[in-house]
Amino acid sequence: MPAPTTGDRSVMADSNATGLDAKSGYSRVDSQPDVAMVLAGMDATATWPSVRYLRAWEHERLTPGPGAEVLDVGSGLGDIAIALAKEVTPGGRVVGLDASAAMIEVAERRAAGAGVEVGFRIADAMNLPEADSSFDVCRSERVLQWLPDPARAVAEMVRVLRPGGRLCLTDTDWFTLTIDLPDVGAISAFREAIWQLRGAPAAVGSRLLNLCRDAGVVELEATAATHIWTDWKPDTEYAPAGIFPIAPIVRQMIAADVLDPVLGERFIEQLLQAARDDRFFMSVGMFAVFGRRPG
Ligand SMILES: C[S@@+](CC[C@H](N)C(=O)[O-])C[C@H]1O[C@@H](n2cnc3c(N)ncnc32)[C@H](O)[C@@H]1O
Repeated sequence: MPAPTTGDRSVMADSNATGLDAKSGYSRVDSQPDVAMVLAGMDATATWPSVRYLRAWEHERLTPGPGAEVLDVGSGLGDIAIALAKEVTPGGRVVGLDASAAMIEVAERRAAGAGVEVGFRIADAMNLPEADSSFDVCRSERVLQWLPDPARAVAEMVRVLRPGGRLCLTDTDWFTLTIDLPDVGAISAFREAIWQLRGAPAAVGSRLLNLCRDAGVVELEATAATHIWTDWKPDTEYAPAGIFPIAPIVRQMIAADVLDPVLGERFIEQLLQAARDDRFFMSVGMFAVFGRRPG
C-alpha cells in the first residue's frame, strides 16, 4: 500500500502506510515523508466550524485596522496573514513567520495570487528575529503544541509587542479527545500515548491562560470550541477530515513503546468498526486566549 500523497485521502484507513512521523508532526513539516499531505491538513482544518469560530473571536479582539503592524507566528499556509494584510492597508504591515520552507513557499504564492504583500520568512517561534516592541498585534494559532518550550515562545511574542499591544493564542488540547467506542480503556490508552509520544505541549490548549499570565499579559479573556467528527468513510478516506492517518499513528505509538499493542489494535478495530457502521463520533477541544502587553 503506498503512502498517501498530495493530500489524497483515498487510502485504506487500516493500512500501515503513512506520510507522517507522528512524533515530529508539524514541528518538522519539511522532513515529513509526505509534505503535501501535511499541508493539505491545514486547508482542511481551516474549514472546521470550530476553527472559524475561534478565528472570528480572535478577530473581534485583535481589531487590526489600517496602519497596524501585525505578526503571525507559525503562519502556515498564510491564509490569516493574507486576510489581515488587506485590513492593515494603508500604512500597516503583516509579517508571517514559520519554521517550514514548504509552508512559506505556498503562503508566498497565495499572497501574490491575492495581490497583497506579507513579509513571510522562515523563523523559529522560540527565537523571533524581530526587534523589541515592534508590533501592535501578534497571533499564533495551533503552533505552541508543536514547540518544545511553549513558554519561551509566548515570552518572545510579548517581547516584540508594543506596550498595550494585543495578543491572541489558539491551540488544541489533545487530552480532551473523546471517541465513542465500546472499550473506554483503549481510548484512555490512546490519549495517554499522544501525551507520551509528543510530550506536554500536546495538551497546551488548557495552559494558554496561565502561560499568558506567566508572561505578564493582562486583560485576559478566554474561549473554547469543540470540534466534532460524525462522519468518516475509512474504506475510501485514510482519516477523518483534517487529521493525520490514525491507524499508522497507533502503530507508531506501539513501536515507540508508549501504547500497549493489545489495546492499540483493539482501538483501531473498534474505531474502524464504528465508522463502517455509521456510528463514528470523535471530538477534541480547542482554546483561545486574548490579552494585552501591559502599558
Ligand atoms: C498546525 S500548523 C498551524 C498553521 C497556522 N497557524 C494555521 O492555523 O493554519 C503549525 C505550524 O507551526 C509551524 N511551526 C512548527 N514549529 C515551529 C517553530 N519552532 N517556529 C515557527 N513555526 C513553527 C509549522 O511549520 C506549521 O506551519
